[in-house]
Amino acid sequence: MKLIKSIRFVPIVLAVCCALFVPILPSHSQKDRDVEKQIDALIAKMTLAEKLGQLQQLDGEGNGNFRPEHLELIRKGLLGSTLNVRGAQRTNQVQHVAMHESRLKIPILFGFDVIHGYRTIFPIPLGEASSWDPAMAERSTAVAAQEASSAGVRWTFAPMLDIARDPRWGRITEGAGEDPYLGAAFARARVRGFQGNDYSATDKILACAKHWVAYGAAEGGRDYNTTDLSENTLREIYFPPFKAAVDAGVGTVMSAFNDINGVPASANPFTLTKVLRNEWKFDGFVVSDYTAVKELINHGLVADEEEAASAALNAGVDMEMVSRSFNTFGPQLLKRGKLSPATIDEAVRRILRIKFRLGLFDRPYTDEAREPNSLLRSESVRLARESADRSMVLLKNERDILPLDKQVRSIAVIGPLADDRRAPLGWWAGDGREENTVTPLAGIKAKVSAQTKVGYAKGCDIKDESTSGFPEAIALAKESDVALVFVGEAADMVGEAASRSSLDLPGRQMDLVKAIYESGKPTIVVLVNGRPPTIGWIVDKVPAILESWMGGSQSGNAIADILFGDVNPGGKLPVTFPRTVGQVPIYYNHMNTGRPPAANNRYSSKYLDVPWTPLFPFGYGLSYTRFRITNLTLSAQRIKADDKLTVGIDVENLGKRSGDEVVQLYICDPVATMTRPVKELKGFQRVTLQPGEKKHLEFALTGEHLGFWNREMRFVVEPGEFKVMVGSNSEETIETKFEVVEK
Ligand code: BGC
Repeated sequence: MKLIKSIRFVPIVLAVCCALFVPILPSHSQKDRDVEKQIDALIAKMTLAEKLGQLQQLDGEGNGNFRPEHLELIRKGLLGSTLNVRGAQRTNQVQHVAMHESRLKIPILFGFDVIHGYRTIFPIPLGEASSWDPAMAERSTAVAAQEASSAGVRWTFAPMLDIARDPRWGRITEGAGEDPYLGAAFARARVRGFQGNDYSATDKILACAKHWVAYGAAEGGRDYNTTDLSENTLREIYFPPFKAAVDAGVGTVMSAFNDINGVPASANPFTLTKVLRNEWKFDGFVVSDYTAVKELINHGLVADEEEAASAALNAGVDMEMVSRSFNTFGPQLLKRGKLSPATIDEAVRRILRIKFRLGLFDRPYTDEAREPNSLLRSESVRLARESADRSMVLLKNERDILPLDKQVRSIAVIGPLADDRRAPLGWWAGDGREENTVTPLAGIKAKVSAQTKVGYAKGCDIKDESTSGFPEAIALAKESDVALVFVGEAADMVGEAASRSSLDLPGRQMDLVKAIYESGKPTIVVLVNGRPPTIGWIVDKVPAILESWMGGSQSGNAIADILFGDVNPGGKLPVTFPRTVGQVPIYYNHMNTGRPPAANNRYSSKYLDVPWTPLFPFGYGLSYTRFRITNLTLSAQRIKADDKLTVGIDVENLGKRSGDEVVQLYICDPVATMTRPVKELKGFQRVTLQPGEKKHLEFALTGEHLGFWNREMRFVVEPGEFKVMVGSNSEETIETKFEVVEK
């Protein structure tokens, strides 16, 4: 039996942790001081109505145009920002009014949801997270910024940093999956990609960390639903990607729709002020989510819009998206003493500060000549293909049926997603156009030899119940050498307001797969989807499965690259795949129970009707080659909490093709004063190895990785034994241990 650890804590001052990431925030330089002076001068001149105007953001028309009302409000100084208005010419037209017809000439900030590309569309963020290559995401995000900025967009509502442990929630598609460490790595990368070192650069845009916070924990996976989470869970699971974004200098944060432990996120002083402002020293501004301020009434937190404005502003929301409670009720709240002038001035200051940092006062307009040359550049399109290549996950490949021979005589390309141009763009598709999507069918045709016969049959639609296309699809499979079946979800089945109570393939798609498989031809399934699906039957029967996600404009080319072996797949799942929806929530970094699952013990934590294990674990993914991970070493057996431990590991390519392995490092603190997860990701490296090549990798572990928030809500590293596990996914690892000793 293990010794219970000493409960003398070794506190780790958070600031030390923060110092590990070099913040990109400009230091408090002379420039910053000058900006604050300019803001003082502006605020001194502003009327109350003009101040409240800065706090207002309004939506444009669906097609990217502004509304006539916007111009009226801007003339009077009553509007600070718009969303969805885009296009260099249009935004310039609006800006012209602000710069020439308004009293104070404060420029408008144009926001838009640039989630995974503007015109060149990259894989959905969940897909890009499967690359385990944050540097790749930084590059794709930089392209998105470059394209969007050319179209007058100066601010994106991204990255979406919500940890999602529930695939029923449609917005799982927009984030980096279930893990806080991987999520933080992608958060940093995406903030850097959008903003660079200085977001006033012409080709950069302001980022927005959203949705602060715990939106992904919506109960039942039902969008907008409430959450009830301990402070530990908030701090350890849901906060880290946001902390990483703040440390990387993100300029804005969006307050979420959901209730958190009885206080909605858009009126929550704990998250908005105590944590974000006081602990993390965030000095940008907070925008509410779409009408989230007014929705405080529906939550039952406030009785009317006046109270809603007071609750949100006093909690720390600075800008209101779409609803107009601040503007309408601000004056009377001030009169009644429910809101202080200082609170309004502070919100105005934060917004103006970001407008200054963005260079909007110096460069309010967008060069209209840039836009046509900035979209869909050949290097951007190449990057979209590379990103999709790196994002796809090979789930099964029995008898090495993949990759296929380009000389194959005939291929049947089947399924409702084989030639669909919309789905690969995902739900938030920026200004992406279907005409720029390469479908799998097109990608395959472009890849195979001139002699190969490529037949296509849709088989069925994504959602409806008709099987009338089955006979044609079956006949095609029968006359071909191999059948590729493309199944999954439509773009509108994922994203916002797209929760599903079933994770099964919609419509008759599973029947289509069965029918093709039963034709007796070698069958390969390619998934085009935005969330983990329940596909147990396919995993049991079909010899090869590729998870292509919604791979963006170039997804068809990338799928063909992988199916025909020009690219060796190296992606890994950033989220656990359940066997059935009834297992949800199922995630790898769970706590243990008093009765851990045991095959021969009924009274242990499991199900009667389905194994307790997932269909595919977090971190899982195959390659066309084989890797071996050996020789796990530590720089010391015993360390102090503020020491650095170096973990060494060898990884070797045993096969005949070059390929990528994502080596993953997990830790576990097996005995602590608060129960700890069975494992937690604390390091990963994606490496390319030539056939026969062996590489030695090193990972650093510090107190930042080993600590947790204790019962007194202090971040501590407790002395005692720790396990280190290294492997190719969260289940297949080798392990060793070390000890943290007291000073
Ligand atoms: C979404 C946000 C988005 C906003 C503006 C809301 O409905 O929740 O993620 O940024 O709309 O489009």
